[in-house]
Amino acid sequence: MNIIDGKAVSASVKEQIRQEILRDNLQVGLAVIIVGNNQASRVYVNNKKKACEVCGMQSFEYALPEETTEKELLELIDTLNNDPKVNGILCQLPLPKHLDEEKVIEAISPLKDVDAFHAVNVGKIMIGNYAFLPCTPAGVMELIHSTGTDVCGKECVVIGRSNIVGKPMAMLLLHENATVTVCHSRTKNLAEVCRRADILVSAVGRADFVTADMVKDGAVVIDVGMNRNAENKLCGDVKFDEVAPKCSYITPVPGGVGPMTIAMLMKNTLMAKRLQMSNE
Ligand code: GUN
Repeated sequence: MNIIDGKAVSASVKEQIRQEILRDNLQVGLAVIIVGNNQASRVYVNNKKKACEVCGMQSFEYALPEETTEKELLELIDTLNNDPKVNGILCQLPLPKHLDEEKVIEAISPLKDVDAFHAVNVGKIMIGNYAFLPCTPAGVMELIHSTGTDVCGKECVVIGRSNIVGKPMAMLLLHENATVTVCHSRTKNLAEVCRRADILVSAVGRADFVTADMVKDGAVVIDVGMNRNAENKLCGDVKFDEVAPKCSYITPVPGGVGPMTIAMLMKNTLMAKRLQMSNE
């Protein structure tokens, strides 16, 4: 069994980005919007800003109060859409309940949509002709590649069907010619389906959800979960201690997928800069 070091793979991706920005002497800027006082969001936003610094990009933070109106937020996005120093715009989710996330995402220019959440970019991912990678699924693909595993023809099972992870994850695996099954809360015989997987990706959001009886011997297991257990400790979806011995490769939480999501965000921000340069 091997533990995949997401921090190391992420550091190497960020270093490549830093080198490229230096080599081409680029000014790259990412605007990060955070609304309200969600503690987890604050940690993610801080990590994203830190990554910008590591890569030699500028970050512009817009920390707005909980009671921000939709009109105010949409006006800020409009300003950022038209600011040439801002190459990427990221609005940290979840938003407070009175704000319509879909409306906010659709207000971001598709050319600056570094999360790849805009319907235009989601559509491009579906077709397989895309500039922006969906960050978390793209990070998972990099981690799978880092193991030397060839995805082509493999049985891949994704647990979870969210727009942010499960659905685009299935697409990226499919683009690499995997046989993909997407499971969710209504799936019958979940353990049996998961046991077919050569590559199992869990994006459920429940601690201890994936147990040893759901995993085939020698499988690659990728844990996208980010949960708190009964002792308030950060943990993934996978019951790591009992599942790990069965795997050929497994990601830890923390230190697996999380750092990769941010590395892919940096990659998208550099891509946004290049797109905007070619549109000038
Ligand atoms: N909230 C949880 N994950 C993400 C993400 O990848 N991007 C944004 N903007 N918000 C999130």
